[in-house]
Amino acid sequence: MAIRYLTEKKIFQLDTEHTTYLIGLTPEGYVGHIYYGGRLKGEGNNYLLRMGEAPFTPSVNLREKSAFLDFFPMEYPTGGIGDYRESCLNVRGESGSIGCELLFDSYQIRKGKPKLEGLPASFGSEEEVETLEILCRDEVLKLQVVLSYSVFGKCDVITRSLRVENAGEEHLKLEKIYSACLDMDNQDFEMVTLAGSWARERHIQRGRIRFGKQMVSSVRGESSHQEHPFMALVTPDTTQESGKVYAMNFVYSGNFVAQTELAQFGNVRMVMGIHPENFCWNLRPGEHFQAPECVLTYSDAGLGQMTRNFHDFYRGHLIRSPFLYGKRPVLINNWEATYFDFDSQKLLEIAREAKKAGIEMLVMDDGWFGKRNFDDNSLGDWTVNEEKITSGLLDLVEKVNEIGMEFGIWFEPEMISPDSELYRAHPDWAIQIEGRRPTQCRAQYVLDLSRPEVVDYAYQCVSNILHSAPIAYVKWDMNRQLCDIGSSYLDRESQGELLHRYVLGVYEMQERLVQEFPKLLLENCSGGGARFDLGMLYYSPQIWCSDDVDAVERLRIQEGTALIYPLAAMGAHIPGQVELCHRYQPLIQRGDYYRLASWTMEKPFDCWEVAEKDGSQALVTFVQVLAQPNTHSRFIYLKGLTEDAAYKLEGTEEVYSGEELMKCGYPVPSQKGDFRSYLYHFVRM
Ligand code: GLA
Repeated sequence: MAIRYLTEKKIFQLDTEHTTYLIGLTPEGYVGHIYYGGRLKGEGNNYLLRMGEAPFTPSVNLREKSAFLDFFPMEYPTGGIGDYRESCLNVRGESGSIGCELLFDSYQIRKGKPKLEGLPASFGSEEEVETLEILCRDEVLKLQVVLSYSVFGKCDVITRSLRVENAGEEHLKLEKIYSACLDMDNQDFEMVTLAGSWARERHIQRGRIRFGKQMVSSVRGESSHQEHPFMALVTPDTTQESGKVYAMNFVYSGNFVAQTELAQFGNVRMVMGIHPENFCWNLRPGEHFQAPECVLTYSDAGLGQMTRNFHDFYRGHLIRSPFLYGKRPVLINNWEATYFDFDSQKLLEIAREAKKAGIEMLVMDDGWFGKRNFDDNSLGDWTVNEEKITSGLLDLVEKVNEIGMEFGIWFEPEMISPDSELYRAHPDWAIQIEGRRPTQCRAQYVLDLSRPEVVDYAYQCVSNILHSAPIAYVKWDMNRQLCDIGSSYLDRESQGELLHRYVLGVYEMQERLVQEFPKLLLENCSGGGARFDLGMLYYSPQIWCSDDVDAVERLRIQEGTALIYPLAAMGAHIPGQVELCHRYQPLIQRGDYYRLASWTMEKPFDCWEVAEKDGSQALVTFVQVLAQPNTHSRFIYLKGLTEDAAYKLEGTEEVYSGEELMKCGYPVPSQKGDFRSYLYHFVRM
């Protein structure tokens, strides 16, 4: 049993294969966090809540709130009642004051995992996952909060989310609602995050935490190029193979916060959720709100184990597409070849040439619709430009199919150009603040997806095109971040709902798309890799990683991305390597990823490996970024092989034992010249 309630001790014990998570109840009903870490063989105990420690004031009443709340490890801290650290839930009642105090009411343990209304979320069968729901109440606000914990035993993952419901008569306002919190004592933690910008997304950052709050976040309306909805706290000794790692990753594609706070007594609070800036959700009597899911994993075997936990979890329990393990086409996209300057003839020429190189799909990128010959018009007018696509889309697709290639198409469904038929007809469909000159980025506005008719319109445009011809692939782009957050559809009181409603609108469209076209290969993209997140991964098995296609620049982008996301989720260029790509695709889709070296100026080489889970083969990429003078060969130490088996290095007569390759290492020969790489395929004999 993954989840138990220890009645006498009032403890919930959540066990995965290698981890345990303990939640305890205090006498008054606070829900406390006892422990998260390596698997306990025995039962958890309440002493870990440290309820008997006196505060700094000579108070005699240890159960007075001020005596312990600011120190107590809370499962889900609320604002306004005496815990001065970061709160997860702020609710304003009709009195105008903020304050919420959640006390335990009841619980339920069930097999499987319920869906989260309107949101992407992980899933699993009744054998794979169990869910604990803890119902808490605030008696003053008449607020009910269900804290959900889903335990995926095999993957060492626990997911968290919550649902709040207004069971009273007052009009409540949710001003902040995070999805997860982890209170711990500091273990000299360092914080690992991903940061970057356009064309250099998700570079790994690591640094020691200090007193106070350190966060990464986005208020851009999307998860963003700049910061990423992921955070790990690691002990200082942490490497790929050793050290303790506590990691959180958010299943959400909009504004987020991921924060660590080192507080006065050396205790650490790690939180993750929707960014409270410009967020305010009305919760009228009887209404409820579902917070997005947060994925937690713990590893005491370093970052590599965290990575493999996440990869296995997303492959097994988040990505739904038949292309997860199915064969994916190698495609050619006309964007960099033509930009807006193309027509049917040019596309067919590209297709014919590409076919010769073994490429299997032609993707027609931006510029095929409205009168779009430049990026300053026509978004929203999703009708084929027959001056370019001269004999119509169906004819073009059929001709591409006759060449022996599939056809894919680009859309940017969430946008509207000021110069478009759509904007002329519906200026109120754009996100804008009344009376304020709206910001144009790439000469476009963002559609107000809080308006149901806009979601319908935008979705229908995509659907109509897909019904008009046999289209096998969609690249769903999103090329600007959100600002001027105003909706002419929402009333004054509801403007703070716009950003989250926008994300829900995107999810609704993508859900309709994958339901209506289950065989479609959907690839999300956002001006490069600004929406490479778990929300998107639920709909599309691959996401455009970055517009940067420079092979060396990609090393850091791909290392950061692969720190949490499966390799096959990364859309990537493979110039001239079509045959290799096909040969190794199944291994890359299924295998275990090991990071063997990360390049720095001092150690200018990069190396990673993908090993079949049963150890039967391993593929190793070694990149010598910069050459150093006068070097010899250097060892790399493989992982995931069978110790007592023999391995043949493909293309040679060389044979090594698994033990040798893992313990003694394989000597990569010295090479003259920068930017050299090797690909090694070891196959068990
Ligand atoms: C974004 C994408 C590109 C291309 C252009 C088209 O920048 O990342 O690959 O599709 O939009 O406008």
